[in-house]
Amino acid sequence: MSVPMEISVQTLTNGDATSHHTTTVPVPAAPSPLPPPVAEDKFLVSVEVCLKPSSTARTEDVKLAVERMLEKMNLSYVDGPIDLPLDDAFLVDNVQRICICDTEEWVANHDILLFWQVKPLVHVYQLSEEGPCEDLDGDSQLSSFSEWILPAKEFDGMWESLIYESGLKQRLLRYAASALLFTEKGVDPFLVSWNRIVLLHGPPGTGKTSLCKALAQKLSIRFSSRYPHCQLVEVNAHSLFSKWFSESGKLVAKLFQKIQEMVEEENNLVFVLIDEVESLAAARKAAISGSEPSDSIRVSTFSKSK
Ligand SMILES: Nc1ncnc2c1ncn2[C@@H]1O[C@H](COP(=O)(O)OP(=O)(O)OP(=O)(O)O)[C@@H](O)[C@H]1O
Ligand SMILES: [Mg+2]
Repeated sequence: MSVPMEISVQTLTNGDATSHHTTTVPVPAAPSPLPPPVAEDKFLVSVEVCLKPSSTARTEDVKLAVERMLEKMNLSYVDGPIDLPLDDAFLVDNVQRICICDTEEWVANHDILLFWQVKPLVHVYQLSEEGPCEDLDGDSQLSSFSEWILPAKEFDGMWESLIYESGLKQRLLRYAASALLFTEKGVDPFLVSWNRIVLLHGPPGTGKTSLCKALAQKLSIRFSSRYPHCQLVEVNAHSLFSKWFSESGKLVAKLFQKIQEMVEEENNLVFVLIDEVESLAAARKAAISGSEPSDSIRVSTFSKSK
């Protein structure tokens, strides 16, 4: 890959779309030797526990069983799967795999992370096998968005398969997790400048779409105890352009109405992936020079997003 992909974290300071600045985190930057967060003098390490599709065990029971198992095992912590104890019938019956995550940076800088230095954070989840639910536009049979229940079987392993400079994915995950936490705690964006938008840009094929899906999947796992229902809405920006004048605006309105309904449910965590966003954000000069419907879409998008 000759040209790197970049990740921009946009910060709207006063809710006005024109007054934003962009912090860019280029992919090939020097690795940051940030240690994992510390609690009670211990490092917090995420342990992801994937349940078998057939399992009906309560996540709380599995979490307790895994915590007990980790206490007994006296592990050194390294990213990757760990073996299930064959003498624990409950775990063997219900758990597909257990993975240690996010120790990469620490291990790269300090060689080893021993069990007594770690406080494991156990996240239990079950993959949805439902597949995407598509919204078909009556006329063109083009879907304007697809909806996934997360964590989805289709995105399993996607995060691990994406290779970037060391620590980049962890930094992105930490940023997104902090943004969710700030929302949860009601942090005032006028005092601490933050929002929940991540903009990925870069040459074709550098993993932008995949990283967005993988990030949503990761967050749905990490926040599963707070948000038991997670969805990803993948907007097909091209399909919002109807051949019929003024129809495009209606399609956008319908899309936002759908998203609005989803987010009204308190325990729902909804990720909206707008792929190829540049097709919506065309230059105003180009849009007013013709009678294309793109300008009406842009107006609808901004007015609905406030
Ligand atoms: N850094 C990477 N590590 C591993 N696989 C990658 C990486 N970047 C891209 N890929 C793989 O390349 C394929 C294309 O990725 P993807 O469609 O996410 O790229 P994109 O940036 O969205 O492309 P486009 O700009 O054309 O939409 C996927 O199968 C993805 O897994
Ligand atoms: Mg893409």
